[in-house]
This record gives sequence, structure tokens and C-alpha cells, in this order.
Amino acid sequence: MTDSNSDKKLTEAASGRLKNRKKKQRKEDAWRPGGPRDPFAMLDSLPEKKQQEIQRALHLFSLGQSLPKTLQEAKQHTYRFWDTQPVVKFGDSITTHGPVVEREAAVCKKPYPLPEGFSWDTLDLSSPTVLIELCTLLNQNYMEEDDNTIRFNFSPEYLQWALQPPNWLPQWHCGVRVDTNKKLVGFIAAVPADVRVYEMQKQMVQVKFLCVHKKLRLKRMTPVLIRELTRRVNQQDFYQAVYTAGIVLPTPLSSCRYWHRALNPRKLIEVNYPGLRQTMNLQRARKFNHLPEVTKTPGLRPMRKEDIEGVHSLLQTNLCRFHLSPILSLQEAQHWLLPQENLIDTYVVEGNGGTLTDVVSFYSVSSRVLNHPVHTGLRAAHLFYVASTATDAVDLMEDTLVLAKSKNFDIFYALDVMENKGFLEKLKFSISDRSLHYYLYNWMCPNMSPDKVGLVFPD
Ligand SMILES: CC(C)(COP(=O)(O)OP(=O)(O)OC[C@H]1O[C@@H](n2cnc3c(N)ncnc32)[C@H](O)[C@@H]1OP(=O)(O)O)[C@@H](O)C(=O)NCCC(=O)NCCS
Repeated sequence: MTDSNSDKKLTEAASGRLKNRKKKQRKEDAWRPGGPRDPFAMLDSLPEKKQQEIQRALHLFSLGQSLPKTLQEAKQHTYRFWDTQPVVKFGDSITTHGPVVEREAAVCKKPYPLPEGFSWDTLDLSSPTVLIELCTLLNQNYMEEDDNTIRFNFSPEYLQWALQPPNWLPQWHCGVRVDTNKKLVGFIAAVPADVRVYEMQKQMVQVKFLCVHKKLRLKRMTPVLIRELTRRVNQQDFYQAVYTAGIVLPTPLSSCRYWHRALNPRKLIEVNYPGLRQTMNLQRARKFNHLPEVTKTPGLRPMRKEDIEGVHSLLQTNLCRFHLSPILSLQEAQHWLLPQENLIDTYVVEGNGGTLTDVVSFYSVSSRVLNHPVHTGLRAAHLFYVASTATDAVDLMEDTLVLAKSKNFDIFYALDVMENKGFLEKLKFSISDRSLHYYLYNWMCPNMSPDKVGLVFPD
């Protein structure tokens, strides 16, 4: 990855006119903690109930300041920051495979400058205090629903799992603190990941957990976080990244959709969970979402440590059929898939003679339900990887839903990636209005349909 200084456009531009424009752009891009009156500060000073009413109204009338959610909207938007980055531009038809810009000769040794009063801090996640600080930042500022009624509730264990896979580096857990009170107000992270893109195998990083405190939003802190993380990643000789976002940036490699399946319809109706068929009363919803009490696949059982090699082999064989997929080491397969309470569940099917024939995994994301008289939390299972060689995929997934329900998950999410479309409708998943766009940093290649995406990563 490269800093904006190496922006292709800039190096190509012979005229001073472009340079001046660039300078102006950089100035505009600077993070301005002072800036105009902060709308979030005003909002924050109101009681929480009032905030929710306002946010609900904004949502209803779609007046909220938001980044493009569709390609059409994106084409009207000016990306002041992303247009300076080595990413594929909208409208470019890509037929080749390779970096957008070649690596720079030297990577800047100094951290990217921050405005006065703020400092970089590499977060030491082995410190319980720091881990809790990160949980607080994310849980208070990572809103799940636009109307602010449901918020993610990442546990310290979840963050350690997501941020400390084999070969993780501490300097890639990049925080910003306020000097006066040391409050953590910004975060971005990268973890190493070997990725296969079409025929190419690349050492990359996965970028995760980008978060800016609500009070510092819309002040251009994000470009600063991304530039500094890029510098730290470049320092380790990594020049490509893969990341996902719900918004449209230049330019999605693939645009996938979330589908969800109610496991506990009563609770979802009671918390007014968006996306559920509002036309259904409770009785109908329960009938519609009914699942068997027990699983039916013979030999289905939780994955154990001694299954790692079998699971690794099943996954690798399956994943190389897609255009974008992780190349997992045995250690990584163990880290990401070996079951851990409230984090990751993996089940295998053991055939006659002890051979593993199928594997399915889902990770767990908890949320807090705010201001509800009865419910305080919600548990979502997110489909991770599935590979089946002997069991019908619909049967395996139905059993997975049964298992998730028995473990008290309220809802099950899956993306329409890989071969998931083959079971989504059959198992009464509903398409949600949330997309997940996949992006590559400093790598161009033709875009791909969701069924060619074989990469899922927890954020
Ligand atoms: C995402 C978030 C950090 C953006 O902060 P912000 O204050 O709205 O945006 P800033 O003023 O700091 O920066 C704006 C720039 O960041 C870019 N940006 C915004 N969200 C982004 C994202 N998720 N990924 C990459 N770039 C993003 C914008 O496109 C814009 O650049 P542009 O001028 O090229 O369009 C903030 O809204 C947040 O913390 N949200 C909650 C957590 C979250 O949703 N994280 C993203 C997970 S993918």
C-alpha cells in the first residue's frame, strides 16, 4: 500500500495545476477536531430516549447524512479521500491482475501527524484494561441499527479472537487517544491473511474494526487512521489489503447481501427487529419459522482439536473453487474454527471409518437491546465456513439452525457468498436490506459475483 503522495494521478501530472489541486485536497482532507458545531455533540446532550426518537425520524425520512449505499448513489458522490488511494476507480473496466501502484522505495518512518491534543497509541490487547477500553469504544460507537435501539456488544474474548490470529502484530492495533484524559476515540486494525485472488496468491492484511467516536465524526479522522495503518502495514512489506464495508466506496470487488433467519421469532418481534416480516403475527411467525427439535445428520458432532487436519483439508479443497478465498495454515484453521464458548461453533460430520466428510461453522455476535422493558440482549449466529462432501447442504444447514437455536441464538445470518444461495430460501432465510461490499486495496482484477466469493471474516 502507498501513501497518497504516491498517488498515480499525482506522479503522472506534469502540470502545477494538478499539484495545487492535490495540495488543496490534502488540506481539505486534514482532520479538523475543532471544525463546525458537532451535530453528534448536540445529539449526545439529549436524553437517550429523545436521541432514539430523532434518529428514528431521520431514518424514516432518510435525511441522515450518509455515504452511498448503492452504486448509483456512489457515482454522484465525490470521494475526496478514496480518489487519492490506489484503488480501482468507478467505471474502470479491469481485465488485468496486479497492483494498482508499485511499492514505494521507502516507507515513511514517522507516524502520520495528528492534530494537536491527540496521539497515536498502539493498543496492548494483553492488558485487560486496554481491552475493556476498546470494547467500550466499539460498543458505544458501533451502532447496529440506524434508530439506535440495538448496539453491538463485543466481548473482550471476541476482540482477542478477531484481532489476534496467528502472526498478528501489535502495531497493527492502532488507536487514537485524547492527550488530556487518554480517552480512546479512534481505532483501526489489520491482521495478516494470505488470500487467493483468482490465480494469484498474495500476502495481505484484513482491515477491521474501523471506528471513530461519535463526537469526532465527519471530521476526516477516518482518512488519517487509514493512512497511518497503511504506513504501518507497508513497513512490514505488505502492500495489499482486503476489507469489507456496508457502504459503497471505490470500487467493490463484489457486492454481497445479508440474509437472516429467525430462530426466536417471539423475541425478534418484541424488540421490533428490523427486516422481519411485519405482516406476520406471532403465531404465524412461530409456525413459519418452526424447526425440528433434533438434528438428523448421522455423525454430526462438535469439532474437536484432533479434527484440525481433517477440517483444514475439507476447507482448503472447498475454498480453492472460489475466486477470492483465504489460504489457511493449520494454526489459522485451529484459531478460527476450533469451538470456543460464545465465540465460534464448528460442527463436523464423521463418516464411517472416522473420516470427516463435512464441516460447518458459525461465529457469535452479541448485541445490547436498549431501553426495552423485557429484553436486554440479542444473540446472532453468523455463518462462517461450510464445506460438504457427503451431506446435502440444505440438510446440513437445517441441522446447523437447529443447533444454533438449541444454543439460544435468536437469529442466524448468512451472506449470499459461496454456494449459500442453494439453501437460503429453502430454509426460510429472508433477504435483508444490508449489503456487504468486498474491497481490495492496491490490487486490481475483474469484479466477481457473490457466489465466487469464498472469504468471510468476522468484524
Ligand atoms: C465508519 C466511520 C469510522 C466513518 O467516520 P466519519 O466520521 O463518518 O468519516 P470521516 O469524516 O472520518 O471520513 C470520511 C471519509 O472516510 C470514508 N469512510 C467512511 N466510512 C468508511 C469505511 N467504513 N471504510 C472506509 N472508508 C470509509 C468516507 O468515504 C470519507 O472519504 P471520502 O471523502 O473519500 O468519501 C464512523 O462512521 C464509525 O465509526 N462508524 C461506526 C463503526 C463502523 O461502521 N465502522 C465501519 C465498519 S466497515
